[in-house]
Amino acid sequence: MTSAWTNETAIQQWNSGSTRESMEATAERGDFAKEHLLNPVLLRLLGDVRGRRVLDAGCGNGYFSRMLAGRGAQVTGVEPAESLISFAREKAGEGISYVQADLARLPEMEPFDAVVCSMVLMAIPEWKPAMRACVEALRPGGLFVFAIVHPAFEELLGTWRKYGEYRQTEYLAEYEIAGRDASDFHRPLSAYLNEVAALGCRVREVAEPGLDPEMADGIESHVRMPNFLIVAAETGCPLMP
Ligand SMILES: C[S@@+](CC[C@H](N)C(=O)[O-])C[C@H]1O[C@@H](n2cnc3c(N)ncnc32)[C@H](O)[C@@H]1O
Repeated sequence: MTSAWTNETAIQQWNSGSTRESMEATAERGDFAKEHLLNPVLLRLLGDVRGRRVLDAGCGNGYFSRMLAGRGAQVTGVEPAESLISFAREKAGEGISYVQADLARLPEMEPFDAVVCSMVLMAIPEWKPAMRACVEALRPGGLFVFAIVHPAFEELLGTWRKYGEYRQTEYLAEYEIAGRDASDFHRPLSAYLNEVAALGCRVREVAEPGLDPEMADGIESHVRMPNFLIVAAETGCPLMP
């Protein structure tokens, strides 16, 4: 269960679990999965970001903020963990500013054209206020793109290696998944999609990318099953109270 967790305890775990070595290793394009499965889809969904104000919500070491700034966006990265935001600030170039904050307590800012929240919502115990803050940070008609570990295939690599197939025994409940650096929290897919709808967004596209077989190099699981779920939605409908 997730009830023992608060956003503060989760953030502390991210702060202490993020080593200089791991941040350096993923500073340019993220890890292998981000490079090959997430980044191309996120960039396609965000479209031409030149001159656009983009919020990178839960930016971690800031690699994606730097990719967006390199494409001409005006980026604001939000990250609560001290170790990660210090690293991001150290590497920041032109067109990027950072705010240290929990997304669930986001300070007011000028509206953004797009908010990208990649691999963050499933790391937050109080995720609904965080998702609401992302949507409320947008101008009317703005674009909200979020990526999560696919709730139906969360432990893909581990179970595939163990059993030669994917196995999941619990889907409908909410529970903690302890990770190497920090914990994630499982919620069914409907929880995320229904919340986006309740926040007045219209879903434009849902992506479940698979790995190109030529890139697989022993990771057959990621060719056959989607390890990530990416949603692009736009604001516009009136927000529910
Ligand atoms: C898996 S990392 C993803 C980081 C980055 N978006 C990326 O793709 O590399 C999860 C991030 O969520 C951040 N995070 C955890 N709780 C948060 C919160 N309440 N508000 C904002 N970010 C949070 C962590 O500190 C960490 O940087």
